[in-house]
Amino acid sequence: MSVLLKILSIYFLFETVTSDPINRHMKIDGDFDDWKNVPSYSDPEDNMEGTVYDVSPWFPSFKFPDCHDGDSLDTSTVPKHIYNPNVNIVELKVAHDNSSLYIYCRVIDGGVIGKTSVGPSEFNKNNPSESSAGRFYIMTAINIDHNATTGCWLHDGGYHPTAPGFDGNIEIEFYNGSFNQNYFVDHGANNDDETNYLKQQNKENHFVIRPATHEYFTQYIYWNHQPTANETKRCLEGPYQLPGSTKTNYICFTKDKAPGPFNGVISYARSVKGNELELRAPFQALLLNSQTGRSTLELGMTVNISLSLETSEEYSVPQDWSSDTTATIQYTLSNDSA
Ligand SMILES: *[C@@H]1O[C@H](CO)[C@@H](O)[C@H](O)[C@H]1NC(C)=O
Ligand SMILES: *[C@@H]1O[C@H](CO)[C@@H](O)[C@H](O)[C@H]1NC(C)=O
Ligand SMILES: *[C@@H]1O[C@H](CO)[C@@H](O)[C@H](O)[C@H]1NC(C)=O
Ligand SMILES: *[C@@H]1O[C@H](CO)[C@@H](O)[C@H](O)[C@H]1NC(C)=O
Ligand SMILES: *[C@@H]1O[C@H](CO)[C@@H](O)[C@H](O)[C@H]1NC(C)=O
Repeated sequence: MSVLLKILSIYFLFETVTSDPINRHMKIDGDFDDWKNVPSYSDPEDNMEGTVYDVSPWFPSFKFPDCHDGDSLDTSTVPKHIYNPNVNIVELKVAHDNSSLYIYCRVIDGGVIGKTSVGPSEFNKNNPSESSAGRFYIMTAINIDHNATTGCWLHDGGYHPTAPGFDGNIEIEFYNGSFNQNYFVDHGANNDDETNYLKQQNKENHFVIRPATHEYFTQYIYWNHQPTANETKRCLEGPYQLPGSTKTNYICFTKDKAPGPFNGVISYARSVKGNELELRAPFQALLLNSQTGRSTLELGMTVNISLSLETSEEYSVPQDWSSDTTATIQYTLSNDSA
């Protein structure tokens, strides 16, 4: 091999094994200086006219509007363009330290992440001027085992650009004008029986990773201390104390629009204008991998990550559910400093 070739192949080796350095200075405080040196991924800036299209590398001939409806569950029916500045993602960053994953996102100027309207009931298409209780979701989907066969496809839940293999989600829900809950989703089931099995496993501090469909999952709030008496009373199923050496961890199974607020372990902060948000999710809250018994998420792993923002009809044009999803990125939870 010539010297040049040798240098080139060493260069490419380093190129392909590049991993994301550990970052020990992250703080969830609404000041985004700590994100300055973290690599940035951009997402197309959608507009009212609907002229901005995305594609998924898995279905390169399928083009669809960047912000779109929430119920196009395949890759042949083009979703309707539904414009909403509050979900119009333009930037994504991912970071980690030795115990948590961090996500940063920014929507277009003028958008407010987590903005929801206040009203007595859900949006009513027949009476759109009546006030309604809006919803907003921040969803980080993770292909934890980096295996496309386990977990589910994003388009199964109406999210595009699609990618395969998402085993779990980290989510925050805003409802009826304020924060409602934060929770984790275990995508490891295909029917009710398997969902019940997931619940049993989750209560044992186990996270299940296996081939799944989007429709079946568990959704749990995680506390690393005892939930308050008030949260305990409102919890829909639980709280359950998780087994383990310290036994100070609890989960409660939940669902959308649960009677919150539930201040689970995920923390977040927004910028003053509201168009930037950062969040932290401790690895611990993804429990132990039911197959290996090790932490589901830990340093050294390479995962795939996709972020979606999704919201109900109120502030969209036309008035329908609207979501924007980033391209899937690969992320290595390296133990090395930058
Ligand atoms: C994790 O990082 C913190 C802060 O840098 C440090 O104090 C702690 O010892 C580290 N823990 C482990 C298990 O490496
Ligand atoms: C939303 O909050 C308002 C004001 O607190 C309350 O009157 C209304 O019942 C709530 N809506 C729902 C669906 O809980
Ligand atoms: C992970 O994401 C990268 C970047 O989108 C992609 O090239 C790769 O195929 C994905 N891996 C899996 C297992 O889905
Ligand atoms: C991916 O998951 C499938 C289904 O569990 C399994 O059969 C396959 O061996 C896994 N692939 C790898 C590379 O681990
Ligand atoms: C329980 O929490 C709800 C919602 O935050 C609040 O309205 C209520 O006053 C609380 N009740 C008690 C007894 O603290």
